[in-house]
Amino acid sequence: MKLTALLGGLTIFPAPQSVPRFPALGPTTSRSVRTNNMLINPPGHPPVPHLDEVTTSSFNISNVQAEVLIVDPTGFKKLMNMVIPTISTVDIMLDMSTQPSASLNMAFSQTGLHKLGIQDNLNDTVFSGGQFADAPNLAESTNTWVSQFKGTSIHGVYITASDSSNSLMQQNSALQTVLGTTIQVVYSIQGQARPGDQAGHEHFGFLDGISQPTIEGFGTPLPGQVTVPAGKLLLNREQDQMTRPSWTIDSSFVAFRQLKQLVPEFNTFANDHPASIPGMSQAQAAELTQARMMGRWKSGAPVDLAPLFDDPVLGADPTRNNNFNYTHPGFNSSSDQIHCPFSAHIRKNVPRTDLDPIDLAHHILRSGIPYGPEVTEVEQQSGQTMMERGLLFLAVQSNIASGFQFLQKAWMNNPEFVKHKSVLPGLDPVMGQNNGSARFTTGLDPMNPEGNTTLPMQFVVSRGGEYFFMPSLSALRHIISS
Ligand code: HEM
Repeated sequence: MKLTALLGGLTIFPAPQSVPRFPALGPTTSRSVRTNNMLINPPGHPPVPHLDEVTTSSFNISNVQAEVLIVDPTGFKKLMNMVIPTISTVDIMLDMSTQPSASLNMAFSQTGLHKLGIQDNLNDTVFSGGQFADAPNLAESTNTWVSQFKGTSIHGVYITASDSSNSLMQQNSALQTVLGTTIQVVYSIQGQARPGDQAGHEHFGFLDGISQPTIEGFGTPLPGQVTVPAGKLLLNREQDQMTRPSWTIDSSFVAFRQLKQLVPEFNTFANDHPASIPGMSQAQAAELTQARMMGRWKSGAPVDLAPLFDDPVLGADPTRNNNFNYTHPGFNSSSDQIHCPFSAHIRKNVPRTDLDPIDLAHHILRSGIPYGPEVTEVEQQSGQTMMERGLLFLAVQSNIASGFQFLQKAWMNNPEFVKHKSVLPGLDPVMGQNNGSARFTTGLDPMNPEGNTTLPMQFVVSRGGEYFFMPSLSALRHIISS
C-alpha cells in the first residue's frame, strides 16, 4: 500500500494542477525556499523519514489550531478548491526538498458535516454526539472547559504548522483571505515545541512521541513497536469494524483535547512523595517518583528497563527505548512493580504483555504539541501555576469508542485496570480522571509498591475539545462537491 493511502486522514492531499493558486504560499514557492528539515528529530525519536515521525509531538516547531464556524457553506465549498493544492501530502512532508513552508490540515465536526450538506451516517456515535456530550464518560467536569467547546457549535478546525513563525502567520492570513467571510474563527490556540534541549519534551519535562503503532505492510517496525491493521486507524481499510460510506476511505476520526498541565504542582507532589530508596538524594528520589508516574524517565528511558536511575543513552536510542514488555526473568509479572508500576501512564495506555493476547484493538496515533509559556521562576518557587500551559493533544483512530474514549474511560480512569494483579492498581496518576474527586494510585515507591497514594489534585486539567472527522483527499473532494 502506498504511503499516501495509509495516512489519508492525516495529511494526504496531493495537489491537482488545474485549480487556481492559493495567494501567499503556493506549494512551488514554498518548496524552493526550504533549506532545513521541518520535522525536528530529537534523540530518542524514530529516525526521519519514518511514518511515525509525521505524527509525533514534535513534527514541527509551532502550529496554530483554529476552530471555525462555517458561515456560508456554498461559498466555503467553492473556495476550498483553491485551498486543497496547498495541503501537504505525507510524502511531501517526509522529503525536506519538497516540504512546504507551512503545512495545513482540515477536519470537521458532526455539526460541520451537516452544515456542509453531508447527511450520511459515518457510524461513530461518539463522534456524532460530540465531545461535550461525552464528558461524563471521560469522568470530567466541563466547568474547566473553554466556553467555545461547550456544546456542539464548532463546525471544523484547521491546523497550520511550520518551523518559522513568519511562514505560519503568512499561511494563516492567506487561508483567511481565501476563505474570507465563509468561515468565522471562534477560537484559536498556538502550540510550539519547547526551547533548546526540551524540544520534543512536553511541559512536565518528558520526551514525548516515542511509542506509536505502525501500520501493517508499512516498513519494518522498530524493536518493541506494535503493528496494527490499517483499519484501526483509517476508515474503510482492513479491520475497520464498522460499515461506512465508501467515500470516507482513508479518513480518520480525531479527538482533539486542550490539556492544561499544572507543572509546579506536579513537581511539588513529587518532592513531597520521594521514593524511599536508601542513599538516594531527595532530588533523585523525587525524579524517580515522577518517572514511575509516567513509566519513563524524562530522557525517554523506560523505567521497565531502567528502574532506579535515568539512562539518557537508552532514552536516546530508538532501537532500544521502546523494546520492553513488563516481563523479567525471575519476576512474576502479576506482582512485579519493582520495575514499572501497573498504573504508570504508559502501562495503562499500552499494557503490552499485561494482556494476553497483546491488545491490537485500542491503539491510537498521537500527535500533540505543547502550548503556553515555560514555567517561570516565581511559579516554580511558589509551587503554583499562574500562566496556562499544557498539551494540544490529538488522537487519530478509526473508532473513537475503541480509541481515545476507551483509553481514557476503561483504562486510565479505571482503578481495577489491569486486572488480576496482586494489588488494585488505581488510576493513571498523570491522566486518570475521577470527576475532580480524590484519585488513588499505587506503585509510586519501589520500596513499598503496593502502597496506596491519594493524589491531591489533577495535574492535568481538561480544557475541553471536540471530535472531528479528518477527511482523506478524496473524501474532502466528496464533501466540497456534494
Ligand atoms: C497532558 C497530558 C499528557 C501527557 C503529559 C502525556 C505524556 C506522555 C508521555 C511523556 C509519554 C511517553 C512517550 C511516548 O511513549 O511517546 C506518553 C505515552 C503515551 N500516552 Fe500520553 N500524555 C498525556 C495524555 C494522554 C492521553 C489523553 C492519552 C490517551 C487518551 C495518552 C496516551 C498515550 C499513549 C497511548 C502512550 C504510548 C504508551 C506506550 O506505547 O508505551 N496520553 N504520554
